[in-house]
Amino acid sequence: MATHAGGLTLEKTAVEVRGLVRKYGERAVLDGVDLAIQPGEFVALLGKSGSGKSTLLRALAGLDYDVDGSGELAVPANVSVVFQDSRLLPWARVLDNVALGLRAADERGRESLAEVGLAGREQAWPNELSGGEQQRVALARSLVREPVLLLADEPFGALDALTRLKMHVLLRKLCAAHQPAVLLVTHDVDESIVLADRVIVLDEGRIVAEEPIDLAEPRSPADPGFTAVRSILLDALGVSL
Ligand SMILES: Nc1ncnc2c1ncn2[C@@H]1O[C@H](COP(=O)(O)OP(=O)(O)O)[C@@H](O)[C@H]1O
Ligand SMILES: [Mg+2]
Repeated sequence: MATHAGGLTLEKTAVEVRGLVRKYGERAVLDGVDLAIQPGEFVALLGKSGSGKSTLLRALAGLDYDVDGSGELAVPANVSVVFQDSRLLPWARVLDNVALGLRAADERGRESLAEVGLAGREQAWPNELSGGEQQRVALARSLVREPVLLLADEPFGALDALTRLKMHVLLRKLCAAHQPAVLLVTHDVDESIVLADRVIVLDEGRIVAEEPIDLAEPRSPADPGFTAVRSILLDALGVSL
């Protein structure tokens, strides 16, 4: 387990954040964020565009060395990050994108690609795949490293609605199998309720709402419990219907 910025250490949690502040110029985009994520817990982070979701994710990923800030955070050493675009290396075949640099790379890469439904595509180039397939490769690449924490920033944001639904099913399955703690950034309220154990809402630099999601599987937007949580979350986002 690794510790960054301050005296926090991880004991029973997978993520600890206390009083996190991140500023661009004079403006505090994050203004005192507190957050703990349990091992294996799936947390979805909602917020309006520009509310600081990516700023928080970048802080957790250790990608914000150029940003002014304070507060404490602790994350595991083994973290994987998935972004909206797959960020595959265009000059490397799919298998190499997944497993480059790993021990037993060939075998583990193939297994991982099979898990995301891409057995047989090992030798394809990234640009021969659809957007959804490229995101599957990105998921395989992150999970093959068995991360303790998976950080995902709108990973399905560029996919069409049908592909996105399929990716939800796949991500649920992968998380059940690998059990990383997950922080998924999304602006899609239904996506957050379908996927997460807990949904949090970021606004004005702070977490302003937190809803545990305790709905029967498979979760259906037609379920009254689903509708009730959706309206609480939309309210927290300042959307009144
Ligand atoms: N590198 C940067 N320099 C200056 N301002 C930034 C930078 N990155 C993000 N911001 C600003 O910080 C705010 C939060 O951005 P971001 O975390 O990307 O929001 P979100 O992911 O919720 O849409 C936005 O107003 C954005 O313009
Ligand atoms: Mg963002």
